[in-house]
Amino acid sequence: MSLLHYFSKDTNKRARFMFGSIAPIYARVDHSLIKGYEKSIEAVQSEIELKNKSVLDIGTGTGAWAMKFIQKGASKVCGIDLSEKILKSGREKHPEITFKTGNAEDLKNFPDNSFDIVTASFVIHGVKADRRAKMLSEMKRVSKKHVVLHDFVGKTHYIVRFLEFIERSDYKNFKKYFCDELKTNFSKAKRIQSDYGSGIYIAEI
Ligand SMILES: C[S@@+](CC[C@H](N)C(=O)[O-])C[C@H]1O[C@@H](n2cnc3c(N)ncnc32)[C@H](O)[C@@H]1O
Repeated sequence: MSLLHYFSKDTNKRARFMFGSIAPIYARVDHSLIKGYEKSIEAVQSEIELKNKSVLDIGTGTGAWAMKFIQKGASKVCGIDLSEKILKSGREKHPEITFKTGNAEDLKNFPDNSFDIVTASFVIHGVKADRRAKMLSEMKRVSKKHVVLHDFVGKTHYIVRFLEFIERSDYKNFKKYFCDELKTNFSKAKRIQSDYGSGIYIAEI
């Protein structure tokens, strides 16, 4: 993949290029995220039972978020990502997760109601409202009961704001509108702040 993919209008090409390029670095630094992820999974666990649940993690990267579900007793965890390169790093680190290549907007390899919980961590803020809606609708279709989003809530650190600018993400609109988008698509939805700048959106079908 060449640097030209960074300038592509196709956001999937861009994401594949960016996350594929930083995969070896991401695999080394993802442990620094784990402390925040620990707080967030506690927040999830206080709302829903995770033991013996099957989980699909969308945009799993190196599997840092998916691992939290395994640690809380999930019986089966599968992670999908656009970037084969980042999945390679994930497979080396976490053999307990089943990693597959896939696109969050079209989960065609998964039938309806195939997992108890469908989740995504720091993925959905990256795309604009029309594509968030596609991702959400696919996550809802594949889930038996819960959709759990781990993502931006509240203030965003200035370094993170800079990184989001480089990624050309839609995080500002995501923070403003996402909770309402969730409420229009699910019978129940709520947002819980868990750590500086991040939190959990839990929706029930
Ligand atoms: C910021 S990383 C987060 C990785 C991981 N969820 C975590 O919390 O450590 C975003 C990941 O989402 C993936 N991604 C972005 N758009 C995607 C899509 N449409 N389908 C699947 N994966 C996607 C990227 O390739 C990248 O690995």
